[in-house]
Amino acid sequence: MIPMRAGTLVLFSDRPGSGVSLLQALDGVAPCRMRPATRLMPAGDCIGFVADLDLLQPSLLRGLRALIAEAPHLPRLFLLRQGGERTASAARGLGATLCLPDGTSPEDVAEAMRGQLRRPSPPPVPVRGQGSVIAQAADRAGAVLAGLLDAARATGAVDPLLIDDGLDPILDAVGEAGLGAWLDTVRAYDDATYQHCLLVAGLAATFAIGLGLRTRDREHLVRAALVHDVGKARIPLEILNKAGPLDPAERAVMRTHTTLGHALLIEAGGFDQSLLAVVRHHHELLDGTGYPDRLAGAAIPDIVRLITVCDIYAALIERRPYRAPLSTAEAFRILRGMDGKLDLALVRSFEQAVAGMGA
Ligand SMILES: [Fe+2]
Ligand SMILES: [Fe+2]
Repeated sequence: MIPMRAGTLVLFSDRPGSGVSLLQALDGVAPCRMRPATRLMPAGDCIGFVADLDLLQPSLLRGLRALIAEAPHLPRLFLLRQGGERTASAARGLGATLCLPDGTSPEDVAEAMRGQLRRPSPPPVPVRGQGSVIAQAADRAGAVLAGLLDAARATGAVDPLLIDDGLDPILDAVGEAGLGAWLDTVRAYDDATYQHCLLVAGLAATFAIGLGLRTRDREHLVRAALVHDVGKARIPLEILNKAGPLDPAERAVMRTHTTLGHALLIEAGGFDQSLLAVVRHHHELLDGTGYPDRLAGAAIPDIVRLITVCDIYAALIERRPYRAPLSTAEAFRILRGMDGKLDLALVRSFEQAVAGMGA
């Protein structure tokens, strides 16, 4: 049998009260100390660590990434809290050697860590995108989006300032690494709303850069993209995540995400008129056949038209359980065929921007 490595374990926990029994169990494997989320650093003789942390907090993600960059050989075990795919994805992004669901007994966590330590010394497990601007930006923007949707779902107290944390990472990532790399990264998310909003944000960044907008306007367009479907946080999950096309009654419920999101942001306060217009009107079409207000032509502001083009394109190229994503060429063929409904001059500019960004 391979002997266990000697040294100490560290339990990083942001809920020290409930971490005591886990600390005691891990102490039976190797001497273990608990450290708070504010002190993410390994001890000199650390042989492995357990992270019992909220992985959707951007500051914790940054701290963990720095910690793992310093000690890439260490076995690292993550306890996953609610947040489903978003949390699991964050743990995978950090190169977790093992993930266990929250609620796993302290004894089982300790046994799992014992198993990790008995394995031959592993090669460094790469942190996804360590040094990669795309992966870090996706983590950051993903955490911002998660915070936005969770707040919208739970209390409606959405904070406009927190959203701004996700803007520059997306613009920088798309600008430096290209749209194709961004699409590849965010298409890996299983949560459909999450994947969609990050796709639209990357496309909006591409469009803004391609149009040569000033920095402030670029940021505003990406902000609008991140927020445009916030009302989906109030749509029942069985409709939102249905693994197939919606029936007419379900589609009617889904369509209310526009008015729900608009009302939610007005209630929250601090969002400007153009952003409110995007949230309410991004499904309006120039010929008046869209929803919820059947706006037509000049009544639809430019920023809404830009997001609508990004939104429809994203829906065509995203991965759905019931159909394969369309290719760039097929998606643009459909967009160009929407003459009268979409602003075709904008569609042409968008196609040039996408081509210019390498996707
Ligand atoms: Fe929408
Ligand atoms: Fe959308």
